[in-house]
Amino acid sequence: MMHDSMDAATIVAYFKGKSILITGSTGFLGKILVEKILRVQPDAKKMYLLVRGTDAALSAKQRVQEEVIGTELFGKLREKHGDGFQQFMQEKIVALAGDITYDNLGLEAPTLEALAKDIDIIVNIAATTNFYERLPYFDDMRRYDVSLDVNVMGVKHLCQFAQQCANLKMFMHVSTAYVCGDRDGLILEKPIQPGESLQQGRYIDIDAELQLVREAKNGLMDVASNSEQKTTERKAMKELGLQRARHFGWSNTYVFTKAMGEMLLEQLRGDKPVVVMRPSIITSVRADPLPGWMQNTRTIDTFIIGYAKQNLPCFLADLSVVMDVIPGDMVTNAMIAAVVAHSEDRSPAAVPVYHVTSSLRNPVTYSVLYESILRHFYQNPRVGKDGKIIPTREIRFFSTTAQFHLYMMLTFKLPLKILQLVNLLLCGFFSRIYNDLNRKYKFVVHLVDVYGPFAFFNGCFEDMNMEQLRLTMAMKTPEDHMFNFDTKTIDWDDYFTRIHIPGVLKYLGK
Ligand SMILES: NC(=O)c1ccc[n+]([C@@H]2O[C@H](COP(=O)([O-])OP(=O)(O)OC[C@H]3O[C@@H](n4cnc5c(N)ncnc54)[C@H](OP(=O)(O)O)[C@@H]3O)[C@@H](O)[C@H]2O)c1
Repeated sequence: MMHDSMDAATIVAYFKGKSILITGSTGFLGKILVEKILRVQPDAKKMYLLVRGTDAALSAKQRVQEEVIGTELFGKLREKHGDGFQQFMQEKIVALAGDITYDNLGLEAPTLEALAKDIDIIVNIAATTNFYERLPYFDDMRRYDVSLDVNVMGVKHLCQFAQQCANLKMFMHVSTAYVCGDRDGLILEKPIQPGESLQQGRYIDIDAELQLVREAKNGLMDVASNSEQKTTERKAMKELGLQRARHFGWSNTYVFTKAMGEMLLEQLRGDKPVVVMRPSIITSVRADPLPGWMQNTRTIDTFIIGYAKQNLPCFLADLSVVMDVIPGDMVTNAMIAAVVAHSEDRSPAAVPVYHVTSSLRNPVTYSVLYESILRHFYQNPRVGKDGKIIPTREIRFFSTTAQFHLYMMLTFKLPLKILQLVNLLLCGFFSRIYNDLNRKYKFVVHLVDVYGPFAFFNGCFEDMNMEQLRLTMAMKTPEDHMFNFDTKTIDWDDYFTRIHIPGVLKYLGK
């Protein structure tokens, strides 16, 4: 049963004396959550941050110091505590060197035992996300083995740990709205049942999928050199992920494995209170603590940066399509509210699922973002290395693949072929022009490949549960607004132009 009514004071008071285990705190969303809880409730007991140690030299503690509390996002909190900031952080935060892909989260038995006794809340935010090809882990997200390990087995290991926590009041799992697959129409906030696939007559057996990966890897054992084996394995795992995702009706490995993670949660939750949060595309912090703050380049932001760097002359997208975006601070506010609302709720027949989305309540189309981008650059023109103003040009949009490919052929592929020939004859005289054009071509193709599907997604996320949660929030005092997650309060034009685009350029544009 959800609580009837909550105000900010109730929410803040709830976290007093509570110990929370958070995974994914070095990531974008995780940091926003850690900062918010510690800022609004300094008397939270402990915050255990499970962090992977990249190597012996860079310990979990050091990573938390550098990648979490040392970031600009913690500026407000730093100001609040002044000279006592580091001491406050030391008292509250415990960095745990671990990894959710391992049994027992990669922790030693005594640590795990002590942790299980202390934990009130678990928030699983960790995942292999799918956002940027140039980062090493972007490759991981497409690998079936890695995605299964983190997005699926990680959930299993956390569920097993949750069963050992006698005082557990909440296990929150962050999934994604796109576990629904490519669908049109209204998409409901309903849990995914174990085995349920998007293809009729096909049943997902997670153990069989793990076995498939093992067999595929064993089959690659005889490849000659070590580095050759690694390359072959990476390629094979990416192909297998896509093939299995498509076999069961999903468009990519990331959303498919996130869906399987939800299935395992449903299966292994026992009698523990569990909630699933499904955000859509998360954008920069809108209000609190640092408007515009972002980390890692994501879907629509690659588009903004591409435009700023003049690498994006065209794109395959229908500007009239509604994109579903939600600022990061609204996501964490909703998470905090849902933790409190469902705390110790052991009764639900089905796991409560929340679409943390905007398409139903306050839809915004791609054209609003595009116009905001143009407006931003008209008002803040870019200046080239030579000191001259770079004109703000419109992007050509194509709403069909055929038109897009024809344009790419005539504007890039043919000129590139000709340039390549001429360049050969003139001993590389046009190398710079060739490389520039080639880079632009590759960038557009990559962007369309990765983000194109989002731009044509025609579903609309129903958010009844979210709406009910919102209605339980008393909005009487100014303080009550500190947990605002009502997307209707967003003026998208203003948010994109004044906050998001400058934020992306400031924090990601480097
Ligand atoms: N961002 C979005 O637009 C969006 C939209 C919908 C849903 N989501 C979901 O929201 C969550 C957070 O996304 P995000 O954008 O904040 O992701 P992110 O910035 O990529 O962060 C991912 C986090 O997961 C951690 N992690 C990965 N593998 C791990 C492992 N084996 N053990 C422990 N930690 C591990 C990473 O740690 P390292 O620093 O060690 O890599 C990092 O802290 C994810 O569950 C994602 O699926 C995100």
